[in-house]
Amino acid sequence: MATGIAIRAVGVIGAGQMGMGIALTTAAKAALPVKIFDNSAIQIDRGLKLVDSLLAKDVNKGKISEDESKATKARISIISSMDDLEGCDLVVEVRNHWCWVTPCKSISPRLQAAAENLQVKQSIFSSLSEICPPSTILATNTSSISITKIAASAAKPEMVVGLHFFNPVPVMKLVELIAGLQTSSDTLARARVFAEACGKDVTQSADVPGFVSNALLMPFLNEAIMCLEKGIATRDDIDKTLRLGMAHPMGPLQLADFIGLDTCLAIQQTLHRETGDDKYRPSVLLGRMVAAGWLGRKTGKGFYDY
Ligand code: 3HC
Repeated sequence: MATGIAIRAVGVIGAGQMGMGIALTTAAKAALPVKIFDNSAIQIDRGLKLVDSLLAKDVNKGKISEDESKATKARISIISSMDDLEGCDLVVEVRNHWCWVTPCKSISPRLQAAAENLQVKQSIFSSLSEICPPSTILATNTSSISITKIAASAAKPEMVVGLHFFNPVPVMKLVELIAGLQTSSDTLARARVFAEACGKDVTQSADVPGFVSNALLMPFLNEAIMCLEKGIATRDDIDKTLRLGMAHPMGPLQLADFIGLDTCLAIQQTLHRETGDDKYRPSVLLGRMVAAGWLGRKTGKGFYDY
């Protein structure tokens, strides 16, 4: 049972699809105020448009009233400095752009969306330790980086926890809860209460590479890519096999595009590096597609054209 202070305000670092999805779900389902920080004005603009369009869709479908939509939007605020996260009882870090550290105007934005980076996350958690009171839960939405390693950079590592949401956050029903070696049982319990308040079911995983979800999903996606690479079946037949034969909502190649091929590659590299197990070795084709800047839906080209 959670014994720490209740969660009354939430911070989100990162205004991409995942960050905005978490912010919207927090504001709409848990009815909590959310502050969002991102150092990219373009990302914030896109993120706010996404929230507006999702709220408008729910109003049009009669799922929520105009007043509920306005109340949800009013709970979401954009902050211009991480220092403004000081009043939050829980902060979720959802950051996976290396341009966080090295904004590089000369490189195309499609090539800047890249791997999650441990050093970036550690510097964020070290800053959060100075900004937030010691009772604040510091959560990360990392898909494969070790919670234990991230926690090591925080002043109170027992307050650090993994809260792994799934894309699209407003739709997917699961949150994976991950304890690092240092995470306290009270932090875990409070994080679980928060995820449930967001309307999610919670599963718990140990801090192993990829946790349960990506340790299972990534070899499956990679196997599908290797089927294509080896000419075993066409793209459409691979996806159709899983959609119609196994009732998956998307085929694996479509899902890899949806997640982002750079994200898939980064997770697979982490799994392979950290376990040394060749079953996680990313396919050559995946590496080549990322090198070409074909990252899936977000760049308009992956296994499919968008
Ligand atoms: N954001 C918010 N809502 C979205 C959305 C988005 N990006 N995309 C779709 N939706 C909503 C739609 O608005 C619609 O809502 P409604 O029922 O209120 O109208 C609902 O989802 C269904 O959408 P559509 O009818 O347009 O399309 P589909 O029925 O084909 O569903 C899908 C789309 C929900 C994305 C479905 O294809 C699906 O479940 N795909 C699998 C997604 C998945 O596996 N996600 C996990 C990825 S792994 C991950 O995130 C972990 C990471 O670590 C890698």
